[in-house]
Amino acid sequence: MATPDRELTATRLLHTSAERTYDPAVEIDWDADLAPGLFFTPPERSTLYGTPLWEALSEPQRITLTRHEAASVAGLGVWFETILMQLLIRAYYRQDPTDAHAQYALTEIADECRHSVMFGRMIDRLGCPNYRPGGINDVLGRWVAATASGPRMYAAILIGEEVLDTFQREASADERVQPLVRMVSRLHVVEEARHVRYAREELARQIRAAGTARLRFDQMIIGRAAYLVGTRLVHHDVYRSVGIDPAVGRRAARANPHYRASLRWAARRVVAYLDGLGLIGGPGLPLWRRSGLL
Ligand SMILES: [Fe+2]
Ligand SMILES: [Fe+2]
Repeated sequence: MATPDRELTATRLLHTSAERTYDPAVEIDWDADLAPGLFFTPPERSTLYGTPLWEALSEPQRITLTRHEAASVAGLGVWFETILMQLLIRAYYRQDPTDAHAQYALTEIADECRHSVMFGRMIDRLGCPNYRPGGINDVLGRWVAATASGPRMYAAILIGEEVLDTFQREASADERVQPLVRMVSRLHVVEEARHVRYAREELARQIRAAGTARLRFDQMIIGRAAYLVGTRLVHHDVYRSVGIDPAVGRRAARANPHYRASLRWAARRVVAYLDGLGLIGGPGLPLWRRSGLL
């Protein structure tokens, strides 16, 4: 059922969407050459930055590593958005198409359609493999896409969107980063701000309605989503691009104090928000601790 504040927010978001929606096919010069000597993420955000492995890499190798890391984040982004689109379309199916809230869900799906095309083109342009979560995460992704609803759906969406958003916001303003990556990041950040607002408000509304007492299962699923984002934001296969064994690279990244600080920094806003709603705790807490996001 439509509630007044829900309709008010959705009406505003539809308005902003009409004013600021970008078509990456038009806005981005996909034929431009990559700039020589520039990184693909700020170097300090590389998973290996500051480690002995990083110190042993040449400058071109460090650039190559950030190239694959940027592609890996985009690959996770596509995977995540594909799940999100399914969740939104399923929720929409049950809604009244005359409600602004329902119309905004479709508008957000349209945003994510363009984003996933944009990320796909960027991965192709970077000449990198499509790094996406495999194994158990692939199975869990299909299960979540087919079944998730309510608080766990919106909280998982927020973790993915807000962590990615913090990294992209910074990269979009960094002159050491490739113009292509900066532009992709900028377009994404502008449109994601609406998605974050939509998910945050809807989540808070649902928690007010449900109370946190019945949310133990949700806490566990939310913790698992946090674990995925924290551990798979960058796929360990990226290390092959610079001749480092994936298992060795993964261990070094997990132990790297610089990268651990980056993850906490990127997650701090969403962690504060979810914690304020009582969603970080219960059976999900061990997974949060292992995610590196706390
Ligand atoms: Fe997106
Ligand atoms: Fe989004």
